[in-house]
Amino acid sequence: MFASHCTTEMIDAATQKLKEGWLVAFPTETVYGLGADATNPEAVARIYAVKGRPQDHPLIVHIPDLSVMEKWASEVPEYAIKLARDFWPGPMTLILKRSNLAGDFITGGQDTVGLRVPAHPVALGLLSRFAAAGGLGVAAPSANRFGAVSPTTANAVMDELIPYLNIDHDRILDGGPSLVGVESTIIDCTHELPRILRPGAITAQMIEESTGLKMAPKDVPSTEHGDDESVEIRVSGSLESHYSPKAKVILDVIPESGEGYIAMSQHATPHGVVRLASPETVEQFARDLYAALRDADARELSTVVVMQPSGDGLAEAIRDRLSRSATK
Ligand code: TXA
Ligand code: MG
Repeated sequence: MFASHCTTEMIDAATQKLKEGWLVAFPTETVYGLGADATNPEAVARIYAVKGRPQDHPLIVHIPDLSVMEKWASEVPEYAIKLARDFWPGPMTLILKRSNLAGDFITGGQDTVGLRVPAHPVALGLLSRFAAAGGLGVAAPSANRFGAVSPTTANAVMDELIPYLNIDHDRILDGGPSLVGVESTIIDCTHELPRILRPGAITAQMIEESTGLKMAPKDVPSTEHGDDESVEIRVSGSLESHYSPKAKVILDVIPESGEGYIAMSQHATPHGVVRLASPETVEQFARDLYAALRDADARELSTVVVMQPSGDGLAEAIRDRLSRSATK
Protein backbone atom coordinates (compact mmCIF):
# COMPACT_ATOMS: atom_id res chain seq x y z
CA MET A 1 0.00 0.00 0.00
CA PHE A 2 2.87 2.39 0.61
CA ALA A 3 5.36 3.83 -1.79
CA SER A 4 8.55 5.17 -0.28
CA HIS A 5 9.64 6.58 -3.60
CA CYS A 6 7.02 7.21 -6.14
CA THR A 7 7.43 5.67 -9.59
CA THR A 8 5.20 6.24 -12.62
CA GLU A 9 3.89 2.68 -12.14
CA MET A 10 2.80 3.60 -8.61
CA ILE A 11 1.07 6.73 -9.87
CA ASP A 12 -0.67 4.67 -12.58
CA ALA A 13 -1.84 2.12 -10.03
CA ALA A 14 -3.08 4.90 -7.72
CA THR A 15 -4.95 6.49 -10.63
CA GLN A 16 -6.72 3.18 -11.19
CA LYS A 17 -7.65 3.00 -7.50
CA LEU A 18 -9.12 6.52 -7.68
CA LYS A 19 -11.18 5.51 -10.72
CA GLU A 20 -12.47 2.49 -8.79
CA GLY A 21 -13.61 4.75 -5.95
CA TRP A 22 -10.78 4.19 -3.46
CA LEU A 23 -8.80 6.86 -1.61
CA VAL A 24 -5.31 8.04 -2.53
CA ALA A 25 -3.28 10.26 -0.22
CA PHE A 26 -0.85 12.30 -2.29
CA PRO A 27 1.85 14.92 -1.78
CA THR A 28 1.34 18.56 -2.71
CA GLU A 29 3.67 21.52 -2.23
CA THR A 30 1.53 22.74 0.71
CA VAL A 31 0.55 19.61 2.67
CA TYR A 32 -0.50 16.05 1.82
CA GLY A 33 -4.08 15.59 0.62
CA LEU A 34 -6.48 12.66 0.96
CA GLY A 35 -8.01 12.30 -2.49
CA ALA A 36 -11.12 10.73 -3.99
CA ASP A 37 -12.92 11.00 -7.34
CA ALA A 38 -14.80 14.30 -6.93
CA THR A 39 -17.76 12.99 -8.95
CA ASN A 40 -18.21 9.83 -6.84
CA PRO A 41 -20.40 10.47 -3.75
CA GLU A 42 -19.54 7.14 -2.05
CA ALA A 43 -15.81 7.70 -2.47
CA VAL A 44 -16.10 11.25 -1.14
CA ALA A 45 -18.20 10.00 1.80
CA ARG A 46 -15.23 7.83 2.79
CA ILE A 47 -13.00 10.92 2.99
CA TYR A 48 -15.32 12.33 5.64
CA ALA A 49 -15.42 9.00 7.50
CA VAL A 50 -11.63 8.56 7.44
CA LYS A 51 -11.03 12.15 8.57
CA GLY A 52 -13.87 12.16 11.10
CA ARG A 53 -14.91 15.45 9.53
CA PRO A 54 -18.42 16.95 9.70
CA GLN A 55 -20.35 16.47 6.42
CA ASP A 56 -21.11 20.11 5.80
CA HIS A 57 -17.49 21.18 5.41
CA PRO A 58 -16.69 21.63 1.71
CA LEU A 59 -13.73 20.01 -0.06
CA ILE A 60 -11.26 21.50 -2.54
CA VAL A 61 -11.38 19.93 -6.02
CA HIS A 62 -7.87 19.42 -7.41
CA ILE A 63 -7.52 19.72 -11.19
CA PRO A 64 -4.53 19.26 -13.54
CA ASP A 65 -4.75 22.70 -15.22
CA LEU A 66 -6.91 25.76 -15.59
CA SER A 67 -8.67 24.48 -18.71
CA VAL A 68 -10.74 22.23 -16.43
CA MET A 69 -11.84 25.16 -14.25
CA GLU A 70 -14.89 25.95 -16.38
CA LYS A 71 -16.24 22.42 -15.95
CA TRP A 72 -16.55 22.97 -12.20
CA ALA A 73 -17.33 26.70 -12.08
CA SER A 74 -20.30 28.47 -13.61
CA GLU A 75 -18.94 32.00 -13.22
CA VAL A 76 -15.27 32.88 -13.45
CA PRO A 77 -14.49 36.60 -13.08
CA GLU A 78 -11.63 37.97 -15.13
CA TYR A 79 -9.49 38.52 -12.05
CA ALA A 80 -9.81 34.83 -11.15
CA ILE A 81 -8.45 33.90 -14.58
CA LYS A 82 -5.51 36.25 -14.02
CA LEU A 83 -4.83 34.65 -10.65
CA ALA A 84 -5.06 31.15 -12.14
CA ARG A 85 -2.64 32.10 -14.94
CA ASP A 86 -0.16 33.68 -12.54
CA PHE A 87 -0.22 31.25 -9.62
CA TRP A 88 -1.31 27.82 -10.87
CA PRO A 89 0.15 25.31 -10.43
CA GLY A 90 0.67 26.67 -6.93
CA PRO A 91 -0.47 27.12 -3.31
CA MET A 92 -3.74 28.88 -4.13
CA THR A 93 -7.40 27.78 -4.01
CA LEU A 94 -10.07 29.80 -5.83
CA ILE A 95 -13.68 29.80 -4.56
CA LEU A 96 -16.05 30.20 -7.52
CA LYS A 97 -19.77 29.84 -8.21
CA ARG A 98 -20.23 26.13 -8.83
CA SER A 99 -21.47 24.33 -11.94
CA ASN A 100 -23.90 21.39 -11.76
CA LEU A 101 -20.91 19.06 -11.73
CA ALA A 102 -19.98 20.21 -8.21
CA GLY A 103 -22.44 18.24 -6.08
CA ASP A 104 -23.62 19.07 -2.57
CA PHE A 105 -21.39 16.25 -1.32
CA ILE A 106 -18.36 18.32 -2.44
CA THR A 107 -19.53 21.81 -1.57
CA GLY A 108 -21.29 21.06 1.71
CA GLY A 109 -24.47 22.31 0.06
CA GLN A 110 -23.02 25.75 -0.72
CA ASP A 111 -23.37 27.28 -4.18
CA THR A 112 -19.61 27.64 -4.55
CA VAL A 113 -16.72 25.28 -5.25
CA GLY A 114 -13.04 25.45 -4.29
CA LEU A 115 -10.53 24.66 -7.07
CA ARG A 116 -6.76 24.21 -6.99
CA VAL A 117 -3.94 23.08 -9.31
CA PRO A 118 -1.17 21.90 -6.97
CA ALA A 119 2.51 22.38 -7.85
CA HIS A 120 3.97 18.96 -7.16
CA PRO A 121 5.10 16.52 -9.85
CA VAL A 122 3.46 13.51 -8.16
CA ALA A 123 0.16 15.38 -7.66
CA LEU A 124 0.19 16.68 -11.22
CA GLY A 125 1.10 13.22 -12.53
CA LEU A 126 -1.81 11.71 -10.65
CA LEU A 127 -4.25 14.44 -11.71
CA SER A 128 -3.29 14.35 -15.39
CA ARG A 129 -3.44 10.54 -15.56
CA PHE A 130 -6.78 10.64 -13.78
CA ALA A 131 -8.01 13.16 -16.38
CA ALA A 132 -6.67 11.01 -19.22
CA ALA A 133 -8.71 8.12 -17.78
CA GLY A 134 -11.84 10.28 -17.96
CA GLY A 135 -11.69 11.70 -14.40
CA LEU A 136 -12.81 15.30 -13.87
CA GLY A 137 -11.21 16.21 -10.56
CA VAL A 138 -9.90 14.88 -7.26
CA ALA A 139 -11.52 16.10 -4.04
CA ALA A 140 -8.88 16.32 -1.33
CA PRO A 141 -8.76 17.81 2.13
CA SER A 142 -5.51 17.75 4.09
CA ALA A 143 -4.78 14.11 5.01
CA ASN A 144 -5.19 14.49 8.79
CA ARG A 145 -7.94 13.61 11.25
CA PHE A 146 -10.35 16.51 11.75
CA GLY A 147 -8.85 19.24 13.92
CA ALA A 148 -5.32 17.78 13.87
CA VAL A 149 -2.11 19.09 12.32
CA SER A 150 -1.87 18.70 8.52
CA PRO A 151 0.71 16.11 7.38
CA THR A 152 3.73 17.28 5.38
CA THR A 153 5.27 13.83 4.84
CA ALA A 154 3.96 10.42 3.80
CA ASN A 155 4.98 9.06 7.21
CA ALA A 156 2.85 11.66 8.93
CA VAL A 157 -0.11 10.57 6.76
CA MET A 158 0.47 6.97 7.85
CA ASP A 159 0.62 7.95 11.52
CA GLU A 160 -2.65 9.85 11.17
CA LEU A 161 -4.75 7.62 8.98
CA ILE A 162 -3.59 3.99 8.86
CA PRO A 163 -6.22 2.78 11.34
CA TYR A 164 -8.96 4.28 9.20
CA LEU A 165 -7.82 3.31 5.68
CA ASN A 166 -8.51 0.14 3.72
CA ILE A 167 -4.97 -1.20 3.49
CA ASP A 168 -5.83 -3.48 0.56
CA HIS A 169 -7.09 -0.73 -1.74
CA ASP A 170 -6.35 2.79 -0.54
CA ARG A 171 -2.94 4.21 -1.42
CA ILE A 172 -0.43 6.65 0.05
CA LEU A 173 1.98 8.20 -2.47
CA ASP A 174 5.29 9.43 -1.07
CA GLY A 175 6.62 12.57 -2.75
CA GLY A 176 8.99 13.70 -0.02
CA PRO A 177 8.37 16.56 2.44
CA SER A 178 6.01 19.34 1.30
CA LEU A 179 8.06 22.40 0.37
CA VAL A 180 5.64 25.15 1.42
CA GLY A 181 4.37 23.47 4.58
CA VAL A 182 1.18 25.45 5.25
CA GLU A 183 -2.12 25.05 3.39
CA SER A 184 -2.99 27.04 0.27
CA THR A 185 -4.26 30.61 0.27
CA ILE A 186 -8.04 30.45 -0.20
CA ILE A 187 -9.45 33.34 -2.24
CA ASP A 188 -13.16 34.05 -2.51
CA CYS A 189 -13.77 35.00 -6.17
CA THR A 190 -17.55 35.29 -6.00
CA HIS A 191 -17.65 39.09 -5.65
CA GLU A 192 -16.33 42.09 -7.53
CA LEU A 193 -13.17 42.08 -5.43
CA PRO A 194 -11.06 39.10 -4.35
CA ARG A 195 -11.00 38.33 -0.64
CA ILE A 196 -8.66 36.08 1.33
CA LEU A 197 -10.51 33.47 3.41
CA ARG A 198 -7.36 31.63 4.56
CA PRO A 199 -3.88 33.20 4.29
CA GLY A 200 -1.06 31.20 2.72
CA ALA A 201 2.02 31.52 0.52
CA ILE A 202 0.15 33.54 -2.14
CA THR A 203 -0.06 36.86 -0.33
CA ALA A 204 -2.44 39.84 -0.53
CA GLN A 205 0.29 41.84 -2.23
CA MET A 206 0.80 39.15 -4.88
CA ILE A 207 -2.96 39.01 -5.49
CA GLU A 208 -3.20 42.79 -5.84
CA GLU A 209 -0.25 42.87 -8.22
CA SER A 210 -1.68 40.07 -10.35
CA THR A 211 -5.24 41.41 -10.58
CA GLY A 212 -4.65 45.15 -10.35
CA LEU A 213 -7.46 45.18 -7.76
CA LYS A 214 -7.54 46.12 -4.09
CA MET A 215 -8.50 43.21 -1.85
CA ALA A 216 -11.85 43.21 -0.11
CA PRO A 217 -11.19 43.37 3.65
CA LYS A 218 -10.80 39.99 5.38
CA ASP A 219 -13.81 38.61 7.30
CA VAL A 220 -16.09 41.35 5.94
CA PRO A 221 -17.96 40.24 2.81
CA SER A 222 -17.60 42.67 -0.08
CA THR A 223 -20.88 44.49 -0.59
CA GLU A 224 -20.92 45.23 -4.31
CA HIS A 225 -23.92 43.00 -4.90
CA GLY A 226 -25.66 43.74 -1.63
CA ASP A 227 -26.63 40.09 -1.33
CA ASP A 228 -24.09 38.92 1.18
CA GLU A 229 -26.38 38.56 4.16
CA SER A 230 -27.67 35.29 2.75
CA VAL A 231 -24.20 33.92 2.04
CA GLU A 232 -22.56 31.94 4.76
CA ILE A 233 -19.14 30.65 3.83
CA ARG A 234 -17.87 27.75 5.88
CA VAL A 235 -14.13 27.31 6.04
CA SER A 236 -13.41 24.54 8.51
CA GLY A 237 -9.81 25.72 8.74
CA SER A 238 -11.28 28.90 10.12
CA LEU A 239 -12.83 27.12 13.09
CA GLU A 240 -11.22 28.31 16.28
CA SER A 241 -9.63 25.03 17.36
CA HIS A 242 -7.76 23.46 14.47
CA TYR A 243 -4.26 22.53 13.39
CA SER A 244 -3.79 21.23 16.94
CA PRO A 245 -1.27 18.71 18.23
CA LYS A 246 -1.98 16.79 21.47
CA ALA A 247 0.52 19.00 23.26
CA LYS A 248 -0.72 22.34 24.52
CA VAL A 249 0.55 25.18 22.30
CA ILE A 250 1.52 28.44 24.01
CA LEU A 251 2.61 31.47 22.01
CA ASP A 252 5.32 34.07 22.58
CA VAL A 253 6.50 33.31 26.11
CA ILE A 254 9.87 32.12 27.46
CA PRO A 255 9.73 28.30 27.54
CA GLU A 256 10.44 26.40 30.74
CA SER A 257 12.53 23.30 31.26
CA GLY A 258 10.90 20.20 29.75
CA GLU A 259 8.79 22.17 27.30
CA GLY A 260 9.15 22.07 23.52
CA TYR A 261 10.29 25.19 21.68
CA ILE A 262 9.87 26.38 18.10
CA ALA A 263 11.42 29.74 17.21
CA MET A 264 13.58 31.47 14.61
CA SER A 265 17.25 30.57 14.92
CA GLN A 266 18.24 33.87 16.53
CA HIS A 267 16.26 32.90 19.67
CA ALA A 268 18.50 30.92 22.02
CA THR A 269 17.27 27.71 23.68
CA PRO A 270 16.86 28.13 27.46
CA HIS A 271 18.39 25.38 29.61
CA GLY A 272 16.42 22.12 29.69
CA VAL A 273 14.09 23.15 26.87
CA VAL A 274 13.54 20.73 23.94
CA ARG A 275 14.30 22.64 20.75
CA LEU A 276 11.98 21.30 18.01
CA ALA A 277 12.87 23.71 15.21
CA SER A 278 15.10 26.73 14.67
CA PRO A 279 14.33 27.97 11.16
CA GLU A 280 16.46 30.71 9.63
CA THR A 281 13.78 32.12 7.35
CA VAL A 282 10.01 32.49 7.42
CA GLU A 283 9.79 30.05 4.48
CA GLN A 284 11.71 27.46 6.49
CA PHE A 285 9.49 28.18 9.50
CA ALA A 286 6.40 27.33 7.42
CA ARG A 287 8.07 24.22 6.00
CA ASP A 288 9.13 22.86 9.40
CA LEU A 289 6.24 23.93 11.64
CA TYR A 290 3.85 20.98 11.31
CA ALA A 291 6.61 18.38 11.48
CA ALA A 292 7.90 20.08 14.64
CA LEU A 293 4.42 20.01 16.24
CA ARG A 294 4.16 16.31 15.37
CA ASP A 295 7.60 15.76 16.84
CA ALA A 296 6.35 17.30 20.10
CA ASP A 297 3.64 14.63 20.26
CA ALA A 298 6.07 11.85 19.32
CA ARG A 299 8.24 12.93 22.25
CA GLU A 300 5.12 13.09 24.45
CA LEU A 301 5.76 16.66 25.47
CA SER A 302 2.83 18.24 27.25
CA THR A 303 3.60 21.81 26.17
CA VAL A 304 5.14 23.48 23.12
CA VAL A 305 6.05 27.15 23.13
CA VAL A 306 6.15 28.84 19.74
CA MET A 307 7.71 32.25 19.17
CA GLN A 308 5.72 33.60 16.25
CA PRO A 309 7.51 35.14 13.26
CA SER A 310 6.73 38.79 12.55
CA GLY A 311 5.91 40.38 9.20
CA ASP A 312 3.22 39.93 6.59
CA GLY A 313 2.76 37.39 3.79
CA LEU A 314 3.71 33.85 4.79
CA ALA A 315 4.37 34.96 8.39
CA GLU A 316 0.70 35.96 8.56
CA ALA A 317 -0.34 32.47 7.42
CA ILE A 318 1.87 30.93 10.12
CA ARG A 319 0.36 33.16 12.82
CA ASP A 320 -3.15 32.36 11.56
CA ARG A 321 -2.56 28.61 12.00
CA LEU A 322 -0.75 29.03 15.32
CA SER A 323 -3.53 31.14 16.79
CA ARG A 324 -5.88 28.22 16.08
CA SER A 325 -3.46 25.54 17.34
CA ALA A 326 -3.19 27.49 20.57
CA THR A 327 -6.96 27.70 21.17
CA LYS A 328 -8.15 24.62 23.01
O1 TXA B 1 -3.21 23.39 0.59
C1 TXA B 1 -4.35 22.97 0.62
O2 TXA B 1 -5.34 23.67 0.37
C2 TXA B 1 -4.56 21.48 0.98
C3 TXA B 1 -3.97 20.61 -0.12
C4 TXA B 1 -4.20 19.14 0.11
O3 TXA B 1 -4.49 21.03 -1.37
N1 TXA B 1 -5.93 21.20 1.20
C5 TXA B 1 -6.60 21.64 2.29
O4 TXA B 1 -7.92 21.15 2.35
O5 TXA B 1 -6.11 22.36 3.13
P1 TXA B 1 -8.79 21.23 3.68
O6 TXA B 1 -10.08 20.58 3.32
O7 TXA B 1 -8.05 20.68 4.82
O8 TXA B 1 -9.02 22.75 3.83
C6 TXA B 1 -9.71 23.42 2.80
C7 TXA B 1 -10.55 24.51 3.34
C8 TXA B 1 -11.58 24.02 4.30
O9 TXA B 1 -11.50 24.81 5.45
C9 TXA B 1 -12.88 24.21 3.56
O10 TXA B 1 -13.92 24.56 4.43
C10 TXA B 1 -12.53 25.33 2.60
O11 TXA B 1 -11.23 25.07 2.22
N2 TXA B 1 -13.36 25.30 1.41
C11 TXA B 1 -13.44 24.34 0.47
N3 TXA B 1 -14.40 24.63 -0.42
C12 TXA B 1 -14.93 25.80 -0.05
C13 TXA B 1 -15.99 26.64 -0.54
N4 TXA B 1 -16.69 26.30 -1.61
N5 TXA B 1 -16.25 27.76 0.12
C14 TXA B 1 -15.56 28.12 1.22
N6 TXA B 1 -14.56 27.39 1.74
C15 TXA B 1 -14.27 26.25 1.12
MG1 MG C 1 -7.32 20.70 6.65
